[in-house]
This record gives sequence, C-alpha cells and structure tokens, in this order.
Amino acid sequence: LPPQIFGERRKNSAGINIDIESEWRPFSDSVKAFSRHQWQAGPIVNGERLSGEVQVVTAPYDRRETVGSVAFATAEQVEAAISVAAGAYPSWSQRPAGERAQSLVRLADLLEAHTGELVALCHREAGKTIQDSIDEIREAVDFCRFYADQAATDFAEPKQITGFDGTTKLLSYQGRGVFACISPWNFPLAIFLGQVSAALVAGNTVVAKPAEQTSLIAFRAIELMLEAGVPAGAIQFLPGTGAQVGAPLTSDPRISGVAFTGSTETAQRINRSLAARDCEPATFIAETGGQNAMIVDSTALPEQVVRDVVRSAFASAGQRCSALRVLFVQKDIADRITSLIKGAMDELSVGRPELHSTDVGPVIDTGAREKLLTHIESLKNQAKVVAQATLDEECQHGDFVAPTAFEIGSIDVLKNENFGPILHIVRFKASELEQVIDQINNTGFGLTMGIHSRNERTYCHIERRARVGNCYINRDQVGAVVGVQPFGGQGLSGTGPKAGGPHYLYRFTQDVFNA
Ligand code: NAD
Ligand code: ALA
Repeated sequence: LPPQIFGERRKNSAGINIDIESEWRPFSDSVKAFSRHQWQAGPIVNGERLSGEVQVVTAPYDRRETVGSVAFATAEQVEAAISVAAGAYPSWSQRPAGERAQSLVRLADLLEAHTGELVALCHREAGKTIQDSIDEIREAVDFCRFYADQAATDFAEPKQITGFDGTTKLLSYQGRGVFACISPWNFPLAIFLGQVSAALVAGNTVVAKPAEQTSLIAFRAIELMLEAGVPAGAIQFLPGTGAQVGAPLTSDPRISGVAFTGSTETAQRINRSLAARDCEPATFIAETGGQNAMIVDSTALPEQVVRDVVRSAFASAGQRCSALRVLFVQKDIADRITSLIKGAMDELSVGRPELHSTDVGPVIDTGAREKLLTHIESLKNQAKVVAQATLDEECQHGDFVAPTAFEIGSIDVLKNENFGPILHIVRFKASELEQVIDQINNTGFGLTMGIHSRNERTYCHIERRARVGNCYINRDQVGAVVGVQPFGGQGLSGTGPKAGGPHYLYRFTQDVFNA
C-alpha cells in the first residue's frame, strides 16, 4: 500500500496483551472504573440527544444488576432522522474523501483512548469475556482505519480510463444517498461501526439502528463519532426494535441503501420490504447466519483438531455467525476426537465475563437462552450427549447455557442455525466424503467451513467443492482479521461483499463516468 493518510503503512490495532502484567494492570484498572457505572442512551438526531420510551438495561450474567437505560426512538424521531440525513447528503458527499476519512481516523484514536469504558460496556451490556471485549474494540478500530485508508486512496481522485483513440476519460465514485445501517448484538461495536464507517466514508449519510440488546455501546460509539468531527447531519442514531425502528426505515423511499447484519429471516423480510417500495431500487448488503461445518479426516492431528473445535464452537458462547455448528469426523478417528473433546469441555469455565478465569460467558438474553435450552432438550431424546460443561451456582441469576456436544446421525436433523454453545458431531466413512460435502452445500447456507487434513489433495478438493464464503484449513474458523481475511458468506448467508476486504466500500458507492 502507498503511504496514504497514515504517513506509513496502516497496521491493525495491537490491542492489549492480558498476559503481560504491565499491560494488564492499567487496562484492568480502567475497566474496573466503570464496574458500577450507569449509562444513559437515546436517539441522536442532528446532534441532539432525545428522550423517548425508556427501557432498563440489565447485565446478561446477572439480571439483578442494572447497567443503565435507553430511550427507544418514536415514529416521529425516525421520520426526523431520515429527513435530516437526506438534507445533509449533498454537503457530506461533496467533501473530499480524504477529509471524510480523517474523521474516521480520529474516531479510531478515540475508541482506543476509551478502551476501558468500552470493554466494561462489552462485559456488562453484551456479556462478552475479557479477550472477546478487547478483540471487539480492536476490530472496530481496524474497520475505521481500514476503510478510511481505502477511501482516501481509491476515492480521492477519479480513475483515468484511456480509450483506444488515446483520449482519457474520468470515472469517479460518489455516495448513493442515505444508508440505513442495521446491526446485530453479537458484535455491538465492531459490526455496528464497520457498517456505519464504510457508508460514511464512501460519501453517504447514515441512519444507524443498533440491535435493541446493545444500544448503550452503540450510543457511546456515536458520541465519539460526533466528537471525532463527523457532522451532526451525516449520522443519525435510532435505538429501538426491529418492528418499531427497523421496519419503517427499510420501507421509506428516501433510503438509498441498507447495510444489514443479522439473521437470514430478517434479511429476507427487509428484502421484501425494499422490493415493495414504489421508488428507485436500493442497494442491499446483507450478512447473515450459517450452518457452519468442519470436516476432519483420518490424517488430521487430533490435539490440533480439538483445540480448534473448542474455540470455533464455544468461544464467544458460540454467538458468532462464523462459529462451528456441525463437526464431521471420519469414523477411523472419531472415538479419539470425541473423547478429547469431552476432556477439553470438562475444563471449560463458564461464568462472569469480566473474570480472567472465564472461558465462556452468558448468552445475550432470556429469549436466546430459552431457544437454546429447547433445542438441547429436543436433541436429548434423539441424540447422544458427548459432553456438557457444568454451570455453577453463580450462573443461576444470568442467561447461561452450558456448552453441550451431541452426536447426531445427520446434519438434516438441524433445521435452523442454533446461535449458541452447542456442537453437533456426525461420523462419516471415507467413502462418504462427497455426500458430506453435498449435505453441507444443500443446507443453502455458505458462511464458514473448517477442514482438518494433512492430505493436500483432500483439503484442496473439499475447498474447491464447498460453497462457502470463508474456508479455513488446519486452524480454527472464527475471528477473521480486518484487511487480511475478508469476511462474508454466500447463499442464505449473505450477499457479499466481504467486510474488511478490498471490495466492500465500492458497494456503498455509485460510479460516474465522464466522457
Ligand atoms: P436479528 O436478525 O434478530 O436482528 C438484527 C437486526 O435487525 C437488529 O438490529 C434488529 O432489531 C433488526 N431487525 C429485526 N427485524 C427487523 C425488521 N423487520 N426490519 C428491519 N430491521 C429489523 O439478528 P440478531 O439476533 O441481532 O443477530 C444474530 C444473527 O446475526 C445470527 O443469525 C448471526 O448468524 C447473524 N450474524 C451474521 C454476521 C455475518 O457477518 N454474516 C455477523 C454477526 C451476526
Ligand atoms: N468476523 C467474525 C468472525 O470471523 C464474525 O468470527
């Protein structure tokens, strides 16, 4: 990359190494300073903090603990936010791309400066463990710098296109108008800011709707964005439910594009809503769920497989779209692998997210917990439990689900994405490899896949046949790195383009050719 706006080649954020005392101690103190803090959030329209119907926010690991409160946006505030964003579009889109990028660079610096508070919010509002919270802030910072860097490079000057007659014409990139950015709770800062920063830096104005479960974190991010110099007209913030805030946004004809991350069902609903509008078609970017598999053949290294399986299935309490759901193990090594998985799961510590010793925190809310427990109960009648981690007493006040592994006969028994710490294991014979790949492809999802094999012909063959967005060989399958591992699915898992990749920003623009 050329030097661009950073004066040197862009680097990803270093984060915090919690194993080094000199990094851990000040970091831990800065997080603890917010251990009793109460945050207040609400809609922000044209820079003004507004009030509305107030909801109390409690901690997923202990529902007796209050974290703050949030006012959900009213119908009038939704209407006002779209009007302001539409009015601000001409001036924001005409600013030089480098200037728009500079405000994101300042935002990234502010996010790093507020790491302690943001990590505390990740623990207390989203139930994220220490490492997940640090990774969350890092990823948000990396998205801001990565998209800023790319916009300042790619969109600063029109591209020159020389015709066969030697004349040179210009191709330039502009925003599309007002983008609605609708995000999930499982990456409440990284995905929220990834969408918003891409839309803004590409020249759009934005109406941002965070997931209702994680409005406080998103609110702080928008406050920092305004402090970083993004004009009040360019970014509007509307906390609220999908029905009350998301739906009116996506049916409004003034919305030129929607960047959505969440479940496949909601993406389909938004797609129908956009199609039903009697106006110019909108751009729709959807990043959705998966039924992610890993295939392990008999040449794989069992200890390495188990390390990668446990991280892929149970890290972040299995609440990653990329997480491993179905492990296919060749029969010849299946007993060894399942017994190692059981051993590793017996060691998992489930508990409060801010504790150093915790491997798996709570799930996001009571609804999610009940859905997962229903799935576990229904499988107990038809499948063998390989292992189930234990929950101790302190988990009883929170929304915890014990990490559980089942052996099932076929992937076909799984009708939906089970968004939590549940692993399903299927044994297969070497002669059944093609059927296994077909079964995975036939789910219609296509987000991540893991392959563990030391046979190059096997893993290259599986990789070629699998219809997935991100395929990982002999490693875990979660935690894509911005700028290095562009991330996104196909089929029921999303429209692309890949977040953190070289083509993402272009989907937020329209190109104009001057002949
Ligand atoms: P969800 O679909 O329930 O909600 C996502 C967002 O959509 C929320 O902000 C919600 O309020 C909003 N919404 C709901 N109904 C709406 C409607 N009718 N119109 C407009 N907006 C509406 O998903 P979730 O439970 O928040 O997140 C978990 C899901 O997200 C999982 O399926 C997971 O796989 C997926 N996910 C995908 C990726 C990816 O990159 N592919 C990343 C993270 C999460
Ligand atoms: N980008 C996230 C991951 O790779 C979802 O796990």
